[in-house]
Amino acid sequence: MEIPNPASKPRQPDPITVAEVEAIAAKTLSKQIYEFYASGSDEQKLLKRNMSGYDRLYIVPRVLRDVSDVDTRVEMFGSKLNMPIGIAPSAMQRLAGRGGEIDVARAAVHERVNFTLSSQSTTSLENVMAVKTSQGDSTPTPDFWFQIYLTQDLDKSVDLIKRAEVAGYKALVVTVDTPVLGNRVNERKNVLALPRGMRLANLEEDDADSAKTPTPTRNRLLMDARTKHDARLVVELGGGEMHASNLSWAKTLSFLRGVTTMKIVLKGVMTPQDARLAILYGADAIVVSNHGGRQLDDAPSTIEVLADIAHAVRGRIPIILDGGIRRGADVFKAIALGADLVWIGRPVLWGLAYDGDKGVGAVLNILERELSRTMALAGVREISEISSAYLAVANPTF
Ligand code: FNR
Repeated sequence: MEIPNPASKPRQPDPITVAEVEAIAAKTLSKQIYEFYASGSDEQKLLKRNMSGYDRLYIVPRVLRDVSDVDTRVEMFGSKLNMPIGIAPSAMQRLAGRGGEIDVARAAVHERVNFTLSSQSTTSLENVMAVKTSQGDSTPTPDFWFQIYLTQDLDKSVDLIKRAEVAGYKALVVTVDTPVLGNRVNERKNVLALPRGMRLANLEEDDADSAKTPTPTRNRLLMDARTKHDARLVVELGGGEMHASNLSWAKTLSFLRGVTTMKIVLKGVMTPQDARLAILYGADAIVVSNHGGRQLDDAPSTIEVLADIAHAVRGRIPIILDGGIRRGADVFKAIALGADLVWIGRPVLWGLAYDGDKGVGAVLNILERELSRTMALAGVREISEISSAYLAVANPTF
């Protein structure tokens, strides 16, 4: 029999909800970094509304159905995924955990989920792709997608788009809800500086061994760990040419089609009108998103606008939804109202701070288990069976 050693610290029980993972992350991260991740814009109204919106919907269970073998698998653009939950692009993941984007990519491969890398990553897009390609052909891996903010002068985005395509990214996620940066009150109070050795790896000018010149992946993996700049870099996400306020539908979509063969996914669509325009101008998918409440604080929550958008889209292109997903039941509700896939933003960062790639995997597993339990309790076996027939709002005659 093993005698417990009283000197050794009792092992903390594994977190069983996303909220518990967040509580650990809040203790682990500095106040400045935690607030950069956790905050919304202005009065933080939408940040809360994105989450509380789900409480206004009930799931009504059907009984006496065979739910002994619930299946959460889905497909997106022909790629097989273990769950309808993917990873939203979020900037500067190495601030959450040393492995940063590499750890997030590892978790995506391990759990076989949809994954989008932010252009504002602290690891180069080529090094992140190496996580997938190093698996070899025999292991089925999910597609990786790449997110960009277009520049005021569109031609300045060409190089980055081409780099992503050459590296093997399957879709280009173009974030369109950021003509100017939202009023991030906390960020303005704490100016966030990237520590030494960390940089916006896709955007900054590189040394002679530039990321534009392909080098073997093993060397590339080492590159990010090296100190590139002595000076501390103050990240002014709102500054310079990172955001374009002069775009239009025709100009943007014809530019994108002309420059890449990747799928084009528009992120930040919040109305049926814009969803119809997205289809008209040839987008391959849309992301119903309000940037996790970091842009227009008075916008509706994403779950509130989803049904009308899905009605307008009529299944012609896939719909992804993000914002406020914290429980498996939230995923169920979003799918019931017409989403093909949901993304999680902040929960991934909490997982990363908690335990690197394993922590991100833990978050995905928590949500996946909650989703399958919700499906069983509601009486559905497959994702394709989930529909608005399983939803209700509070009975007004009650
Ligand atoms: C983001 N988001 C984001 N979106 C994007 O298109 N490019 C980016 O670089 C970032 N960066 C980013 C950083 C941080 C810290 C957060 C919290 C969010 C928005 C993100 O993709 C997603 O829309 C939201 O995070 C979804 O909401 P939840 O899941 O965080 O509630």
